[in-house]
Amino acid sequence: MSTSHVLILAAGKGTRMKSGRPKVLHHVAGAPMIDYVLATAASLGAATRTVVVGHEADQLRSALAAYPDLRFVLQQPQLGTAHAVMQAEPLFAGVRGTLVLLSGDVPLLSADTLRTLLARHQETGAAATVLTAVVDNPFGYGRVVRDGDEVLRIVEQRDATPGEREVREINSGIYAFDLEPLFPALGQVAADNAQQEYYLTDLVAIYRRAGRRVAALAIDRPEEILGINTRGELAAMSERVWQARRVALMASGVTLEDPATTYVDKDVVVGADTVIRPGVSLLGRTTVGARAVIHAGVRIVDSELGDDVTVLDHCLVMGARIAGGVAIGPFAHIRPGSEICAGARVGNFVELKKTRLGAGSKAGHLAYLGDATIGEKVNIGAGTITCNYDGVNKNRTVIEDGVFIGSDTQLIAPVTIGRGAYVAAGSSITKDVPAGALGIARGRQENKEGWATLKKVQQKAEKKT
Ligand code: UD1
Ligand code: CA
Repeated sequence: MSTSHVLILAAGKGTRMKSGRPKVLHHVAGAPMIDYVLATAASLGAATRTVVVGHEADQLRSALAAYPDLRFVLQQPQLGTAHAVMQAEPLFAGVRGTLVLLSGDVPLLSADTLRTLLARHQETGAAATVLTAVVDNPFGYGRVVRDGDEVLRIVEQRDATPGEREVREINSGIYAFDLEPLFPALGQVAADNAQQEYYLTDLVAIYRRAGRRVAALAIDRPEEILGINTRGELAAMSERVWQARRVALMASGVTLEDPATTYVDKDVVVGADTVIRPGVSLLGRTTVGARAVIHAGVRIVDSELGDDVTVLDHCLVMGARIAGGVAIGPFAHIRPGSEICAGARVGNFVELKKTRLGAGSKAGHLAYLGDATIGEKVNIGAGTITCNYDGVNKNRTVIEDGVFIGSDTQLIAPVTIGRGAYVAAGSSITKDVPAGALGIARGRQENKEGWATLKKVQQKAEKKT
C-alpha cells in the first residue's frame, strides 16, 4: 500500500447556516462536527492530516489547537472546492501516494467505509475514486453520471439538466486521489458554472479527457455521507447520533424512562441497572456506576459517580466525585473540584465548590460550602455559609471530624473549626474554634418584660383620642 495523506475541506462560509462561526464548529450531539471527521481521519493512520481553513480561519485554527499534529492551509478567498484543494499544492510538492479528501461538514462517515474506499482505490489503480450512495432524495447534491462502472462526470444540482436531476446516485464529496496527476489536473478546472466557482467535481471530466480512470465506490448506508448545510440538517444529524447512543446505552443494561429527552455524550460510561428518568444530560467525561438513579432534570458534566448513587431532581453536577451510595438533591449544585465521600448527604439548595465533604457528613439544606475541607461525621446546619472570598483572595475553611455547625452560621475564612467543636446557631465566626470548644459569636439576647403588651395598650389609647 502506498502512503496516504488526509486533506479536510473546511474553508467554506457555510452561508446557509447564517452564522458568525465556521460551520464545522457547530455541534453535532455535543461535539464540533469537525471532531468526528478528525477522529475518522485518525483511524486511517495517514502520514499527514491537513485542514483547509478560510472563513473565520483564526477561530477555527484556535478551536483545533488540541490537535498538535494538524497542518493548516489558508484558502483566501474561497472560490470553490477545487480551489480549496489547490491551496494545498505547496505541501505536496514531490509527494507521491494517495490523497484522501474529506469534507468538514460530513461527520458520520465511518472508519470502515474510509478504509474500504482507500483499499478499493489502491486496488484498481484509478486516478480518482469517489465515494457515492444512492438516495431517495438527491436534491442539492452533485449527481454521478455513469456509463456502467465508468464515472463520466459529476454535475451539481444547479448545473444539472432535468434528465441528470433524475439520477439518485450522489457525490459524497469524499474521494481518494492519486497525488501524482492531481495538481496539474486541478490547474485545468474553470469556473464556468452557475456559481462561478472552481468545482472539484470537474476533475472527473478532465481525467476522462486525459484517458485516466475515475472509479466510484457506492456504499449502501447513505446516512454516512449526509452533509450538513443548514441548522435543520444539523438538528436532524444530532438527533440521529443521540438516538444511536441511547440505543447502545439501553442495550448495555441501562433503563432510560424517556429516551427522547436523555442526552449522553460519546465518552460517558453508565453501569448496568442504573435508571435515568426524563430530561437528564450526562456530558463530557462522566461515569456513573451501577444501580444508580438519576432523577428528572439533572445535568452531570465531567464527573464520577459511584454505584447506587441517587441524584434527586434538578441537580447540576460538574467536575465532581460522588462516592457510592450517596444521595444528593433535589436542587443541589455541585461545582468543580468537589468530592462527596461515602455516607455523606447533600440536600436541597446546597452548593459545593472545591469542597470535600467527608464520610458520613451532612449538609441537608440551604448552604454554600466553598473552598472547604470538611471531615467525617460533621453536621452542617441549614443556612451555613463559608465566606471564602474577601474581595481579593479565596480563603479556605477547615472543619474537622465530628464538628456541629449550628444553623445560619457564617464561617469567615481562613478559619478552622477543631475536632468535635460546636458552633452556635447564628454565629459569625471570624476566629478559629479549638477542638472540643463551643464557638458562639452573635448579639446577646435581651428580653424586655411586658414591652409588647404595654405597646398595644398605648396604641389603643391613641386610636380613641
Ligand atoms: C459538494 C460537492 C457536491 C457533493 C456535496 C456533498 C462540489 C462542487 N460539490 O457540494 O458534488 O454532493 O459536496 O456534501 O465539490 N469548501 C472550501 N472552500 C470553498 C468551498 C467549499 O473549503 O471554497 C469546503 C466547505 O467548507 C465544505 C466542503 O468544502 O466543508 C463542501 O463545500 P459545500 O459548499 O458545502 O459544497 P456542496 O454544495 O455541499
Ligand atoms: Ca456541503
